[in-house]
Amino acid sequence: MATTQTVKDVNFAGKRVFVRCDFNVPLNESGEITDDTRIVAALPTIQHLIEQGARVILASHLGRPKGEKNPAFSLKPVAEALSVQLNKPVAFVEDCIGEDVAGVAAALGDGDVLLLENVRFHKGETDNDPEFAQNLSKVAEAYVNDAFGTAHRAHASTAGITQFLSPCVAGFLIERELAYLGEKVSNPEKPFTVILGGAKVSDKITVIDSLLEKADTILIGGAMAYTFALAQGRTVGDSLSEPDKVETAKAALAKAEAKGVRFLLPMDNLITNALDFGAGTVGDTQVVEGNIPDGWEGVDIGPKTTALYEEAIKSAKTILWNGPMGIFEIPDCAKGTFAMAEAVAGAEGISIIGGGDSVKAIKKSGYGDQVTFMSTGGGASLEFLEGKELPGVAVLDSV
Ligand code: 3PG
Repeated sequence: MATTQTVKDVNFAGKRVFVRCDFNVPLNESGEITDDTRIVAALPTIQHLIEQGARVILASHLGRPKGEKNPAFSLKPVAEALSVQLNKPVAFVEDCIGEDVAGVAAALGDGDVLLLENVRFHKGETDNDPEFAQNLSKVAEAYVNDAFGTAHRAHASTAGITQFLSPCVAGFLIERELAYLGEKVSNPEKPFTVILGGAKVSDKITVIDSLLEKADTILIGGAMAYTFALAQGRTVGDSLSEPDKVETAKAALAKAEAKGVRFLLPMDNLITNALDFGAGTVGDTQVVEGNIPDGWEGVDIGPKTTALYEEAIKSAKTILWNGPMGIFEIPDCAKGTFAMAEAVAGAEGISIIGGGDSVKAIKKSGYGDQVTFMSTGGGASLEFLEGKELPGVAVLDSV
């Protein structure tokens, strides 16, 4: 298998390097960054390039501004946060192409850092327009992609630009993501337990299919468990489910049996007769085993399921978690998810959190710093776990 080249394979001293990061961070109404995980995750590559004496030109998208300049999606707050993290000035230019940008880039000294404005202020970015990609490339001599969270997008700054720069290598973050979500999941130390949650079977079926090839045990939670319950002939009341995916769920259950994979579904559920997600409240609640009556909906796994799943996590050498067990955003429905977080954090095996909502959940539970690896990708980690090739990685140099 080809190995992607990384920043370790190249000497960037004195070179202008275009570094694509994923600084798509959440901002509050005042434009303040509310979670800097993706900024912190990009630091090792940036620091390495600074130490080598490279002239570092950072680029990213933020949000989906649809090809138009929009101050609400400016990367300026990221430049300020980066400057604090790096303890050095980070220059910022209000565009990502053009003469002004070229002028500032040309004036950079060895070890200097410049952040360009949001690449998605130009439609050419998401269109992967070759002319726009070439314009982006003009400020630099070499390319580093460290934007794992955007590696599933074939955009100008993640793919097209590589036509115009050489070498094109991965940063440390992408290297780490590929090592954990790739190698450690493809060749897991056994027993390998997978915890899969989330709302829809349709969102996760390709991941389930792919992981059924590798896992010893798969633990199912979240609303998709109710579609599996339908597949087993149970009633689910008003629970979120996909009746049109029952056959898909049945096929997954049959595949698990044929492969000898322990495929566990909730044996009990927390149910409620009223739910207000916006207010974060539920009505009456109770724990039921088996059928869920009409007028009630499942909102979390129950205590017996939690205990069963905790056992399967404890005995695993490799644990992969993707998707919450219930509506963890509502405190009354968070117990199952937080119990999984505690079990994963306390397990001796290596623990990999597959991005998106599961990362939010484990951080909210307070156990985020006790797991082996948390992916910075949402859609990207899901596509990677599905076994798909990521365009932003495929275009990089390999040996
Ligand atoms: C993400 O947050 O998942 C990435 O930054 C990709 O963003 P996108 O879904 O807008 O392409």
